[in-house]
Amino acid sequence: MAQILNIDNISVSYGSIRALSDVSMNVNEGDIVSLIGANGAGKSTLLNAIVGLVPLKGGSITFAGEKICQAKHHMHSLSTDLIARRGIALVPEGRHVFADMTVEENLDMGAFTVRDQALIEKRKQEMYDFFPILGARRKQKTRSLSGGEQQMMAIARALMSAPRLLLLDEPGLGLAPLIVQDIFSKIKIINEENKVTVFLVEQNARLALKSSSYGYVLENGKIVLQDEGMALLDNDMVKKAYLGA
Ligand SMILES: Nc1ncnc2c1ncn2[C@@H]1O[C@H](COP(=O)(O)OP(=O)(O)OP(=O)(O)O)[C@@H](O)[C@H]1O
Ligand SMILES: [Mg+2]
Repeated sequence: MAQILNIDNISVSYGSIRALSDVSMNVNEGDIVSLIGANGAGKSTLLNAIVGLVPLKGGSITFAGEKICQAKHHMHSLSTDLIARRGIALVPEGRHVFADMTVEENLDMGAFTVRDQALIEKRKQEMYDFFPILGARRKQKTRSLSGGEQQMMAIARALMSAPRLLLLDEPGLGLAPLIVQDIFSKIKIINEENKVTVFLVEQNARLALKSSSYGYVLENGKIVLQDEGMALLDNDMVKKAYLGA
C-alpha cells in the first residue's frame, strides 16, 4: 500500500515548552492508524501540526507526495485552508461545533472547499442517510443535540469535503461506552466503504487499537513504541499503561 502521510522527524514548541520531539510516522493509504498517549503527551499538537495550525520547529510533513509543512522553509508550507483542499479533514478535540447553527448549516460549513451546490446537496443527503439522526435533526440548532449526536455531526461536517485522510481527535471523549462503540463502527464503515484513510487519537486505547491496522504510542512528545494494532494490544507496556491490565 502506498504511503499517504509521512511525518518526518518533526518538532513543535509552544514558546519554551517542547510539545513534540523528532516525531516520525507513516500512514498507508486505506488504513486506520491510531495514536495513543496520556494527557499532555502531544497528540492534539501532532494533529494540529498536520493541518498547519501549529508551525514546525523541525522536520517536515508530506501528504500524497507533496510537502505540505516544513520547518526550514516555512514559506513553502501550505495554509490550513490549502491543506483542507488537498484532502485532509480534522475533527478537532471537543468537536468545535457551531452551536447556534443548525445541523444543516454546520454541514454547509464543512463543504467550504466545494463550489458545486448540487454536489453539496448530494453529500448532505449522503450524510443524512449515513447518520439518520442528523437527517431528523437537520433544522435544529446544534446545541440541542446530545454529545454523541454532536460528535457524529462533527464527523459528517468533516466528510463534506470528501477528504482522502480523516484526522479524528478523541472522537469518544466524554461519551458513554455504547455511543463510542457506535461512533467507531461508523468510522470503520467510512474507512472500508468510502475508502477514507483514518488517523485517530483516542483515550480508549483498547477500542482504538482493535480498530487499527497500526498504532503509535506517544509519551512526552516522543514516539516510544509502534507496531500493528493487535501487537500493541498484546504489548506488556501498553497493557500496563493504557489498558488497565
Ligand atoms: N497553545 C498552547 N500553548 C502552550 N502550551 C500548549 C499549547 N497547547 C498545548 N500545549 C502544551 O503542549 C503539550 C501537549 O499538549 P497536547 O494538547 O498536544 O496534548 P494531548 O496529548 O492532546 O493531551 P490531551 O489528552 O489532554 O488532549 C502539553 O504540555 C500542553 O500543556
Ligand atoms: Mg488532546
